Amino acid sequence: MKAVLLTNHGGPEMLRYGDAPDPTAGPGEVVVDIHAASVNAADYKVRLGSGRSTLRFPYILGRDFSGVVSAVGPGVTDLAVGEAVFGVADQGNEGAYAEKIAVKAAIIARKPDRLGHAEAAAMALTSLTALWALEDTAQLKAGETILIQGGAGGVAGFAIQLAKHLGATVITTASASNHDYVRRLGADRVIDYNAEDFTTAIADCDVVFDTVGGEVQVRSYAVLKPGGRLVWVAAAPEGFQPTRRDVQTLRPGVARDRKHLERMLELLEVGAVWPPEIIRYKLTDAAEAHRVSESRHLRGKLVFEVR
Ligand SMILES: NC(=O)c1ccc[n+]([C@@H]2O[C@H](COP(=O)([O-])OP(=O)(O)OC[C@H]3O[C@@H](n4cnc5c(N)ncnc54)[C@H](OP(=O)(O)O)[C@@H]3O)[C@@H](O)[C@H]2O)c1
Repeated sequence: MKAVLLTNHGGPEMLRYGDAPDPTAGPGEVVVDIHAASVNAADYKVRLGSGRSTLRFPYILGRDFSGVVSAVGPGVTDLAVGEAVFGVADQGNEGAYAEKIAVKAAIIARKPDRLGHAEAAAMALTSLTALWALEDTAQLKAGETILIQGGAGGVAGFAIQLAKHLGATVITTASASNHDYVRRLGADRVIDYNAEDFTTAIADCDVVFDTVGGEVQVRSYAVLKPGGRLVWVAAAPEGFQPTRRDVQTLRPGVARDRKHLERMLELLEVGAVWPPEIIRYKLTDAAEAHRVSESRHLRGKLVFEVR
């Protein structure tokens, strides 16, 4: 099969389009012929070697995908060859920047016809992350106020829609060119973080969902009311310790499972959420897609159309 191969840690030029062995379906697994795969912020971080990397090169990046089952491993009884499916590679596994992936059947879901492959790939990890963060971890309730940092991004964009659906008042941060976009997603109030300091603009939030990290997370504690919850998926600066003792700091586990993907489909069905803005690339343009992702100012999602 063809795939995007990471040849070493480094810049986007370390991504090469080439040949890789076809995966096979082990016990409990299916092979999916990938139609679309999405780019996540985590991908450029892995490419750069963040964390304690033990990758063996050439390595295939990519977490979420949508496609058609082309092989079924021993013990799989609930999915069949020819079915359209989507999902996220199991924790610690990657490999979606490719024509095929082997994945546990239990953690992927059937893709409804109304959702295109690009849209399904774009929504898989972002929805899983936002659902785990706001429903399972923050347990956001109707009537509460949430600040979602980085509203125009992939995870935050889904989180705005979800928080609104749950009945919360939604405040978000975005640069001016993205204000219309985040308002369309449902934000009640938008702060232009380049022009206004969110720590003085707002106060008494029940929840902050931080998808930006760094100093943004450090400063986010200032807007929480006593008893508030800060839920993060992008890290604070190394060594940072929160000083407030009257709020909770929570990190969602973001386990991969079918239940959360089906929850996303349920929300889609009732019109509570819809696909993000998508910029499409070919796998041969992976380096360019990574440059855009790494700039951290894209709107919505970047998706590879694989076949
Ligand atoms: N399992 C997990 O824990 C998990 C899963 C998924 C993602 N993540 C992490 O979550 C983070 C977000 O991922 P993503 O893929 O959603 O990111 P993304 O789409 O790459 O986010 C980019 C967005 O961030 C906004 N932004 C950048 N700097 C900002 C600032 N100072 N204030 C407000 N907004 C800012 C940009 O909007 P403007 O152009 O308007 O600035 C842009 O729309 C990443 O760190 C990722 O690694 C973790």
